[in-house]
Amino acid sequence: MGKLSGKKILIGITGSISAYKSVVLVRLLQKEGAIVKVVMTESSKEFVGELTFSTLCNSPVYSNLSQDNQWSNHVELGLWAELFLIAPASANTLAKMTHGLVDNLLTAIYLSAKCPIMVAPAMDLDMWNHKITQSNLQILQQIGIQIIPVGDGHLASGLSGPGRLAEPEEIVEIVKDFFIDSNLLSQKNILITAGPTYEAIDPVRFIGNRSSGKMGIRLAEEAVKLGAHVDLILGPSNESILSHSLLNVIRVESAQQMLDEVTKLQSKIDCFIFAAAVADYKVESPSQEKIKKTEINLDLHLTKNPDIALTIGKSKRSDQISVGFALETENLFENAKSKLDKKNMDFIVMNTPKVKNSAFGFDTNQISIYHKDGRILEFELKTKKEVAKDILHEIYQLQCR
Ligand code: C5P
Repeated sequence: MGKLSGKKILIGITGSISAYKSVVLVRLLQKEGAIVKVVMTESSKEFVGELTFSTLCNSPVYSNLSQDNQWSNHVELGLWAELFLIAPASANTLAKMTHGLVDNLLTAIYLSAKCPIMVAPAMDLDMWNHKITQSNLQILQQIGIQIIPVGDGHLASGLSGPGRLAEPEEIVEIVKDFFIDSNLLSQKNILITAGPTYEAIDPVRFIGNRSSGKMGIRLAEEAVKLGAHVDLILGPSNESILSHSLLNVIRVESAQQMLDEVTKLQSKIDCFIFAAAVADYKVESPSQEKIKKTEINLDLHLTKNPDIALTIGKSKRSDQISVGFALETENLFENAKSKLDKKNMDFIVMNTPKVKNSAFGFDTNQISIYHKDGRILEFELKTKKEVAKDILHEIYQLQCR
């Protein structure tokens, strides 16, 4: 049985000389067992015939918003597909995708699709190198679209350089990896705490910290891509979050609210990831009215906040995994080890703000993972997205033991 057995893949074909390679792509995907449907833009038909694809797929090719006086339901096609793969994706279609322009069936499907989307760009060297194309690709990547790298070499224009459509064999490998990954944590319920907490002093002031929430949000986004259902309990954060049908975001403000939400969900959770920078203290009795400035100093009496990871650690079942973070500026290993033991964690992710561009507020992080069995794994400085993948990979490994 092929690695893509029964997987429903919708291929989008746009106007590029490389559209001929999509014929091979469809064949190779079918050989791996995939069920393939094809949607074409008008200009792609100048390069390759509809009949080729309809014969290969044993199904009509979709290209118009209406066909033979019948409405082609773009929503249905987007729902049918488990993956929408646009190959080749022209500079024109990429630009339309970036700005939400809908002027054909392919872009209508794109804008309403619920499934993951991949694009394999193909264009001439100068179009590829143009700042606007690169900026469009960056935006598409930021909203969660996977960009298949272009090839470098001979181009139809006679020029040579980047811009070639990736070879069909390479695209198939990426699609296979995607489907393996998308099942890695399926059926798993993951709870992630993230961001800072704000502890009220009065209705307008609070005690908080500099956590951006980025690490926890990246973890949530990557976990859903691996098929997990994620509850993200998020303190005040301005970071944008990719929407996904498997991601449930619960906004909270204080540590107590965060704990309340975690305990509500506790019993159904397979893995807790405590990435929040929870305030250790709160004001004992916040003022109901805005505190007026006076000539004398102001004393705030602080009491300890609940420790969420500790509370869950004490009551968690043996089949539940707990992962925490330790942000230390000194005695990294000793402090991390004592937190790991005290809070009954399976592993703790250590980071230090002393490493350049790491931890609080940055898009990159350098971590070490300390397992409860004593194993220590060191990682390089990476984007938080890549760090999230490393952490989730460790969680996957624990699930397999
Ligand atoms: O603050 P501390 O360094 O002890 O935090 C270590 C871990 O415990 C982190 O994973 C953090 O999210 C979690 N924690 C928590 N509730 C607190 C304090 C920390 O869940 N009140």
